[in-house]
Amino acid sequence: MSQAKGQTLTVSVHACADNVGEAAAERVAGLVRGNPTAVLGLATGSSPVPLYEALALTDVDLSAVAAFALDEYIGLPAGHPQSYATVVRSQIVELLGLSPGRVHVPDGEPADEVRAGSAYESEIRAAGGVDLQILGIGSNGHIGFNEPGSSFSSRTRVVALADRTRRDNARFFETLQAVPTHAMTQGLATIFEARHLLLIAHGPSKARAIQRALSGPVTEDFPASLLQRHPGVTVFLDEAAAALL
Ligand code: F6R
Repeated sequence: MSQAKGQTLTVSVHACADNVGEAAAERVAGLVRGNPTAVLGLATGSSPVPLYEALALTDVDLSAVAAFALDEYIGLPAGHPQSYATVVRSQIVELLGLSPGRVHVPDGEPADEVRAGSAYESEIRAAGGVDLQILGIGSNGHIGFNEPGSSFSSRTRVVALADRTRRDNARFFETLQAVPTHAMTQGLATIFEARHLLLIAHGPSKARAIQRALSGPVTEDFPASLLQRHPGVTVFLDEAAAALL
């Protein structure tokens, strides 16, 4: 492992995705040992899976933690295997022993989108804000589902998914047509308010996005570049994802 400290972010590079997961899990476990009622922000997708698996192997008690998922597809029926409510329940809550009543996922079938977005913001605020937000990164630089062009001041809202995101995520669905076209996502300003951000990426397909996020211009055209302005960011990478740094 090699590590470099910058003014605002720490980059931690490991040999493989499993090692990335172990190191990131130790970071989360350390937070929860010190604060058993910490508020976590949860990413879904493949990047944080090794973290969740490694966290499940620690002795840390996560039952008093509160958690807020970053996003949810719009329009998938309740119980759909790829809805993030289902993924969060089956791949995170059950695995980690979180208390289901403390875990929140944006509403994927909102009667009123605007009201649902601000209700989610209110729930985060009422919980005291997010202590540690776990993030993956899209190949186009999205975080949450804040696609290129999203405002840095954006809040939880419904967004259209970029074609590239739908193609990237088609691997979770039977066909490209089955991938939802819209999602409810925490906004960039929402994410930025978390006290600490923990970004995870592994594999060569993320190398260019990581390079642009960490050393490219800070621009709404590449939303993850906003991380350069946050005072507490840790980036856990494998060597392939770190290859262009
Ligand atoms: C998921 C999320 C997305 C993913 C990103 C990377 O909740 O918010 O930003 O983190 O699309 O996905 P994976 O990890 O599957 O490559």
